[in-house]
Amino acid sequence: MKNHVLRPLWVAIAFVALILLARYVMVPRDFGVQGDSFTFNFHRAGNVDEWKNMPAVAYLGGETCVECHDEQGAALEDSPHVIIQCENCHGPGRDHPETENPATMTIDRSRGLCLRCHADLGYENSSRADLPGINPEEHNIDTQCVQCHNPHTAEFKEDA
Ligand code: HEC
Ligand code: HEC
Ligand code: HEC
Ligand code: HEC
Repeated sequence: MKNHVLRPLWVAIAFVALILLARYVMVPRDFGVQGDSFTFNFHRAGNVDEWKNMPAVAYLGGETCVECHDEQGAALEDSPHVIIQCENCHGPGRDHPETENPATMTIDRSRGLCLRCHADLGYENSSRADLPGINPEEHNIDTQCVQCHNPHTAEFKEDA
Protein backbone atom coordinates (compact mmCIF):
# COMPACT_ATOMS: atom_id res chain seq x y z
CA MET A 1 0.00 0.00 0.00
CA LYS A 2 1.10 3.56 -0.59
CA ASN A 3 2.50 5.51 2.34
CA HIS A 4 -0.20 8.19 2.25
CA VAL A 5 -2.82 5.48 2.83
CA LEU A 6 -0.88 3.59 5.45
CA ARG A 7 -0.01 6.52 7.68
CA PRO A 8 -3.55 7.69 8.48
CA LEU A 9 -4.49 4.04 8.98
CA TRP A 10 -1.87 3.71 11.72
CA VAL A 11 -3.15 6.90 13.31
CA ALA A 12 -6.67 5.49 13.31
CA ILE A 13 -5.53 2.20 14.82
CA ALA A 14 -3.52 3.99 17.50
CA PHE A 15 -6.57 6.11 18.31
CA VAL A 16 -8.82 3.08 18.78
CA ALA A 17 -6.13 1.35 20.87
CA LEU A 18 -5.93 4.44 23.07
CA ILE A 19 -9.67 4.42 23.64
CA LEU A 20 -9.62 0.72 24.53
CA LEU A 21 -6.73 1.31 26.94
CA ALA A 22 -8.52 4.26 28.57
CA ARG A 23 -11.68 2.15 28.88
CA TYR A 24 -9.68 -0.63 30.54
CA VAL A 25 -8.09 1.76 33.03
CA MET A 26 -11.14 3.89 33.82
CA VAL A 27 -14.09 1.46 33.95
CA PRO A 28 -14.29 -0.12 37.43
CA ARG A 29 -13.68 -3.91 37.52
CA ASP A 30 -17.15 -4.64 38.90
CA PHE A 31 -18.98 -2.71 36.20
CA GLY A 32 -21.32 -4.81 34.08
CA VAL A 33 -20.30 -8.15 35.56
CA GLN A 34 -23.77 -9.68 35.45
CA GLY A 35 -24.27 -10.40 31.79
CA ASP A 36 -25.01 -8.50 28.63
CA SER A 37 -28.42 -7.03 29.35
CA PHE A 38 -28.30 -3.26 29.13
CA THR A 39 -31.37 -2.95 31.36
CA PHE A 40 -30.07 -4.94 34.32
CA ASN A 41 -26.35 -4.76 33.94
CA PHE A 42 -25.48 -1.16 33.17
CA HIS A 43 -24.19 -0.43 36.69
CA ARG A 44 -21.38 -1.14 39.13
CA ALA A 45 -22.21 -4.22 41.23
CA GLY A 46 -20.50 -2.74 44.32
CA ASN A 47 -22.83 0.25 44.20
CA VAL A 48 -25.67 -1.93 45.54
CA ASP A 49 -23.79 -2.51 48.79
CA GLU A 50 -22.80 1.13 49.03
CA TRP A 51 -26.48 2.10 49.04
CA LYS A 52 -27.31 -0.68 51.52
CA ASN A 53 -24.76 0.75 53.96
CA MET A 54 -26.14 4.27 53.67
CA PRO A 55 -27.93 5.22 56.93
CA ALA A 56 -31.56 5.75 55.97
CA VAL A 57 -32.76 7.67 59.02
CA ALA A 58 -32.28 11.32 58.23
CA TYR A 59 -35.06 12.85 60.35
CA LEU A 60 -35.22 12.54 64.14
CA GLY A 61 -38.73 13.92 64.70
CA GLY A 62 -39.83 16.75 66.97
CA GLU A 63 -40.04 14.64 70.16
CA THR A 64 -36.30 14.06 70.00
CA CYS A 65 -35.51 17.73 69.50
CA VAL A 66 -37.45 18.95 72.53
CA GLU A 67 -35.54 16.63 74.87
CA CYS A 68 -32.76 19.20 74.68
CA HIS A 69 -34.45 22.27 73.20
CA ASP A 70 -37.41 22.45 75.57
CA GLU A 71 -37.67 26.23 75.26
CA GLN A 72 -38.36 26.06 71.51
CA GLY A 73 -40.59 23.04 72.04
CA ALA A 74 -42.75 24.94 74.52
CA ALA A 75 -42.90 27.97 72.24
CA LEU A 76 -44.13 25.86 69.38
CA GLU A 77 -46.63 23.92 71.45
CA ASP A 78 -49.09 26.80 71.93
CA SER A 79 -48.61 28.30 68.51
CA PRO A 80 -50.25 27.97 65.11
CA HIS A 81 -46.92 26.48 64.02
CA VAL A 82 -47.41 23.43 66.27
CA ILE A 83 -48.13 21.23 63.26
CA ILE A 84 -44.77 22.01 61.66
CA GLN A 85 -41.85 19.70 62.41
CA CYS A 86 -38.68 21.38 63.67
CA GLU A 87 -36.76 19.75 60.86
CA ASN A 88 -39.05 21.26 58.26
CA CYS A 89 -37.30 24.56 59.01
CA HIS A 90 -33.95 23.39 60.39
CA GLY A 91 -33.19 20.54 57.99
CA PRO A 92 -32.65 16.84 58.71
CA GLY A 93 -31.20 16.13 62.16
CA ARG A 94 -29.36 12.93 61.22
CA ASP A 95 -26.87 12.41 64.07
CA HIS A 96 -27.19 15.89 65.56
CA PRO A 97 -25.70 16.63 68.04
CA GLU A 98 -23.73 13.43 68.81
CA THR A 99 -21.40 13.52 65.84
CA GLU A 100 -20.20 16.19 63.49
CA ASN A 101 -23.09 15.25 61.18
CA PRO A 102 -24.23 17.94 61.88
CA ALA A 103 -22.80 19.20 65.19
CA THR A 104 -25.22 22.08 65.03
CA MET A 105 -28.27 22.71 62.87
CA THR A 106 -28.97 25.18 60.12
CA ILE A 107 -30.72 28.38 61.05
CA ASP A 108 -32.21 29.90 57.95
CA ARG A 109 -33.31 33.50 58.57
CA SER A 110 -34.16 34.22 54.95
CA ARG A 111 -37.59 35.35 53.74
CA GLY A 112 -37.55 32.31 51.48
CA LEU A 113 -37.96 29.96 54.44
CA CYS A 114 -41.32 31.49 55.37
CA LEU A 115 -42.49 32.33 51.86
CA ARG A 116 -42.39 28.65 51.00
CA CYS A 117 -45.68 28.47 52.93
CA HIS A 118 -46.84 32.07 53.35
CA ALA A 119 -46.56 33.57 49.87
CA ASP A 120 -50.13 34.21 48.77
CA LEU A 121 -50.50 32.20 45.58
CA GLY A 122 -54.04 33.37 44.93
CA TYR A 123 -55.51 29.87 44.67
CA GLU A 124 -58.77 30.64 46.44
CA ASN A 125 -60.31 27.19 46.09
CA SER A 126 -57.20 25.33 47.24
CA SER A 127 -56.44 24.31 50.84
CA ARG A 128 -53.31 26.44 50.39
CA ALA A 129 -55.65 29.42 50.84
CA ASP A 130 -56.22 28.32 54.49
CA LEU A 131 -52.67 29.41 55.20
CA PRO A 132 -52.44 33.10 56.06
CA GLY A 133 -50.74 34.48 52.98
CA ILE A 134 -48.94 37.74 52.29
CA ASN A 135 -47.75 39.33 49.08
CA PRO A 136 -43.94 39.07 49.22
CA GLU A 137 -43.55 42.01 46.84
CA GLU A 138 -45.43 44.32 49.22
CA HIS A 139 -45.20 42.95 52.76
CA ASN A 140 -42.28 44.74 54.49
CA ILE A 141 -39.90 44.09 51.64
CA ASP A 142 -36.12 43.91 52.17
CA THR A 143 -36.57 42.89 55.80
CA GLN A 144 -36.25 39.37 57.18
CA CYS A 145 -39.56 38.01 58.47
CA VAL A 146 -37.96 36.99 61.78
CA GLN A 147 -37.09 40.63 62.43
CA CYS A 148 -40.78 41.07 63.35
CA HIS A 149 -42.28 37.58 63.66
CA ASN A 150 -41.08 34.91 66.07
CA PRO A 151 -40.76 31.75 63.95
CA HIS A 152 -41.65 29.42 66.85
CA THR A 153 -44.63 31.20 68.43
CA ALA A 154 -45.70 32.85 65.15
CA GLU A 155 -46.36 35.94 67.30
CA PHE A 156 -44.79 39.36 66.96
CA LYS A 157 -41.43 39.80 68.55
CA GLU A 158 -41.56 42.08 71.56
CA ASP A 159 -38.88 44.42 70.25
CA ALA A 160 -40.23 44.57 66.70
C1 HEC B 1 -29.02 15.56 72.86
C2 HEC B 1 -29.43 16.95 72.86
C3 HEC B 1 -29.91 17.55 71.53
C4 HEC B 1 -30.89 17.08 70.70
C5 HEC B 1 -31.71 15.81 70.82
C6 HEC B 1 -31.04 18.07 69.66
N1 HEC B 1 -30.15 19.10 69.85
FE1 HEC B 1 -29.99 20.77 68.73
N2 HEC B 1 -28.34 21.35 69.75
C7 HEC B 1 -27.81 20.65 70.81
C8 HEC B 1 -26.50 21.21 71.13
C9 HEC B 1 -25.56 20.74 72.23
C10 HEC B 1 -26.29 22.27 70.19
C11 HEC B 1 -25.04 23.14 70.04
C12 HEC B 1 -24.96 24.16 71.12
C13 HEC B 1 -25.78 25.34 70.80
O1 HEC B 1 -25.48 26.01 69.80
O2 HEC B 1 -26.76 25.61 71.53
C14 HEC B 1 -27.48 22.34 69.37
C15 HEC B 1 -27.70 23.30 68.39
C16 HEC B 1 -28.89 23.42 67.68
C17 HEC B 1 -29.27 24.54 66.85
C18 HEC B 1 -28.45 25.80 66.64
C19 HEC B 1 -28.63 26.72 67.82
C20 HEC B 1 -27.86 28.02 67.68
O3 HEC B 1 -28.14 28.93 68.48
O4 HEC B 1 -27.02 28.13 66.77
C21 HEC B 1 -30.49 24.27 66.33
C22 HEC B 1 -31.30 25.16 65.41
C23 HEC B 1 -30.88 22.97 66.80
N3 HEC B 1 -29.89 22.49 67.64
C24 HEC B 1 -32.05 22.33 66.47
C25 HEC B 1 -32.34 21.01 66.80
C26 HEC B 1 -33.37 20.23 66.20
C27 HEC B 1 -34.33 20.73 65.14
C28 HEC B 1 -33.34 19.00 66.78
C29 HEC B 1 -34.18 17.79 66.44
C30 HEC B 1 -33.95 17.27 65.10
C31 HEC B 1 -32.28 19.01 67.76
N4 HEC B 1 -31.68 20.23 67.73
C32 HEC B 1 -31.95 17.96 68.61
C33 HEC B 1 -28.41 19.60 71.49
C34 HEC B 1 -29.44 18.82 70.98
C1 HEC C 1 -41.32 27.83 60.97
C2 HEC C 1 -39.93 27.45 60.98
C3 HEC C 1 -39.34 26.91 62.26
C4 HEC C 1 -39.79 25.86 63.02
C5 HEC C 1 -41.00 24.99 62.80
C6 HEC C 1 -38.84 25.70 64.09
N1 HEC C 1 -37.84 26.65 63.99
FE1 HEC C 1 -36.29 26.90 65.24
N2 HEC C 1 -35.80 28.64 64.32
C7 HEC C 1 -36.36 29.09 63.12
C8 HEC C 1 -35.75 30.36 62.77
C9 HEC C 1 -36.07 31.18 61.54
C10 HEC C 1 -34.83 30.67 63.79
C11 HEC C 1 -33.98 31.95 63.94
C12 HEC C 1 -34.77 32.90 64.82
C13 HEC C 1 -34.19 34.28 64.94
O1 HEC C 1 -33.06 34.53 64.55
O2 HEC C 1 -34.93 35.14 65.47
C14 HEC C 1 -34.86 29.55 64.73
C15 HEC C 1 -34.07 29.44 65.86
C16 HEC C 1 -33.90 28.26 66.59
C17 HEC C 1 -32.91 28.03 67.60
C18 HEC C 1 -31.83 29.03 68.06
C19 HEC C 1 -32.25 29.73 69.33
C20 HEC C 1 -33.48 30.56 69.15
O3 HEC C 1 -34.50 30.22 69.78
O4 HEC C 1 -33.46 31.53 68.38
C21 HEC C 1 -33.11 26.76 68.08
C22 HEC C 1 -32.30 26.05 69.16
C23 HEC C 1 -34.25 26.21 67.39
N3 HEC C 1 -34.70 27.15 66.48
C24 HEC C 1 -34.79 24.94 67.60
C25 HEC C 1 -36.02 24.54 67.13
C26 HEC C 1 -36.73 23.35 67.59
C27 HEC C 1 -36.22 22.39 68.62
C28 HEC C 1 -37.91 23.31 66.91
C29 HEC C 1 -39.05 22.32 67.06
C30 HEC C 1 -39.58 22.18 68.43
C31 HEC C 1 -37.92 24.45 65.99
N4 HEC C 1 -36.78 25.17 66.18
C32 HEC C 1 -38.94 24.73 65.08
C33 HEC C 1 -37.35 28.47 62.41
C34 HEC C 1 -38.11 27.40 62.87
C1 HEC D 1 -44.22 24.47 56.52
C2 HEC D 1 -45.08 25.63 56.35
C3 HEC D 1 -44.79 26.89 57.14
C4 HEC D 1 -43.59 27.56 57.25
C5 HEC D 1 -42.25 27.19 56.64
C6 HEC D 1 -43.86 28.76 58.00
N1 HEC D 1 -45.18 28.76 58.38
FE1 HEC D 1 -46.11 30.23 59.42
N2 HEC D 1 -47.83 29.13 59.49
C7 HEC D 1 -47.98 27.90 58.92
C8 HEC D 1 -49.25 27.35 59.33
C9 HEC D 1 -49.80 25.98 58.93
C10 HEC D 1 -49.85 28.31 60.17
C11 HEC D 1 -51.19 28.20 60.91
C12 HEC D 1 -52.30 28.60 60.01
C13 HEC D 1 -53.59 28.44 60.77
O1 HEC D 1 -53.71 29.02 61.84
O2 HEC D 1 -54.43 27.73 60.27
C14 HEC D 1 -48.95 29.44 60.24
C15 HEC D 1 -49.18 30.62 60.93
C16 HEC D 1 -48.33 31.71 60.92
C17 HEC D 1 -48.63 33.02 61.47
C18 HEC D 1 -49.88 33.38 62.21
C19 HEC D 1 -50.80 34.13 61.26
C20 HEC D 1 -52.08 34.50 61.99
O3 HEC D 1 -52.90 35.08 61.30
O4 HEC D 1 -52.21 34.20 63.17
C21 HEC D 1 -47.53 33.82 61.26
C22 HEC D 1 -47.36 35.28 61.64
C23 HEC D 1 -46.55 33.02 60.60
N3 HEC D 1 -47.05 31.75 60.39
C24 HEC D 1 -45.28 33.46 60.26
C25 HEC D 1 -44.28 32.65 59.76
C26 HEC D 1 -42.90 33.05 59.62
C27 HEC D 1 -42.35 34.41 60.00
C28 HEC D 1 -42.23 32.00 59.08
C29 HEC D 1 -40.76 31.88 58.78
C30 HEC D 1 -39.88 31.96 59.93
C31 HEC D 1 -43.20 30.93 58.88
N4 HEC D 1 -44.43 31.36 59.33
C32 HEC D 1 -42.91 29.70 58.30
C33 HEC D 1 -47.09 27.27 58.07
C34 HEC D 1 -45.78 27.65 57.88
C1 HEC E 1 -41.32 45.10 59.65
C2 HEC E 1 -42.00 44.00 60.34
C3 HEC E 1 -42.49 42.83 59.50
C4 HEC E 1 -41.75 42.05 58.64
C5 HEC E 1 -40.30 42.19 58.24
C6 HEC E 1 -42.66 41.01 58.19
N1 HEC E 1 -43.89 41.18 58.73
FE1 HEC E 1 -45.47 39.94 58.53
N2 HEC E 1 -46.66 41.23 59.57
C7 HEC E 1 -46.23 42.38 60.16
C8 HEC E 1 -47.39 43.09 60.69
C9 HEC E 1 -47.33 44.43 61.43
C10 HEC E 1 -48.53 42.29 60.40
C11 HEC E 1 -50.00 42.54 60.72
C12 HEC E 1 -50.59 43.59 59.82
C13 HEC E 1 -50.56 43.13 58.41
O1 HEC E 1 -51.28 42.19 58.05
O2 HEC E 1 -49.81 43.74 57.61
C14 HEC E 1 -48.04 41.12 59.70
C15 HEC E 1 -48.83 40.08 59.28
C16 HEC E 1 -48.35 38.88 58.76
C17 HEC E 1 -49.12 37.68 58.54
C18 HEC E 1 -50.56 37.48 58.89
C19 HEC E 1 -51.41 37.83 57.70
C20 HEC E 1 -52.85 37.44 57.95
O3 HEC E 1 -53.61 37.60 57.00
O4 HEC E 1 -53.18 37.00 59.06
C21 HEC E 1 -48.29 36.75 58.02
C22 HEC E 1 -48.61 35.31 57.64
C23 HEC E 1 -47.00 37.37 57.90
N3 HEC E 1 -47.07 38.66 58.35
C24 HEC E 1 -45.89 36.72 57.39
C25 HEC E 1 -44.69 37.38 57.11
C26 HEC E 1 -43.64 36.82 56.32
C27 HEC E 1 -43.68 35.43 55.71
C28 HEC E 1 -42.63 37.74 56.27
C29 HEC E 1 -41.32 37.63 55.48
C30 HEC E 1 -41.46 37.32 54.06
C31 HEC E 1 -43.05 38.88 57.06
N4 HEC E 1 -44.31 38.64 57.53
C32 HEC E 1 -42.29 40.02 57.30
C33 HEC E 1 -44.90 42.80 60.27
C34 HEC E 1 -43.85 42.28 59.55
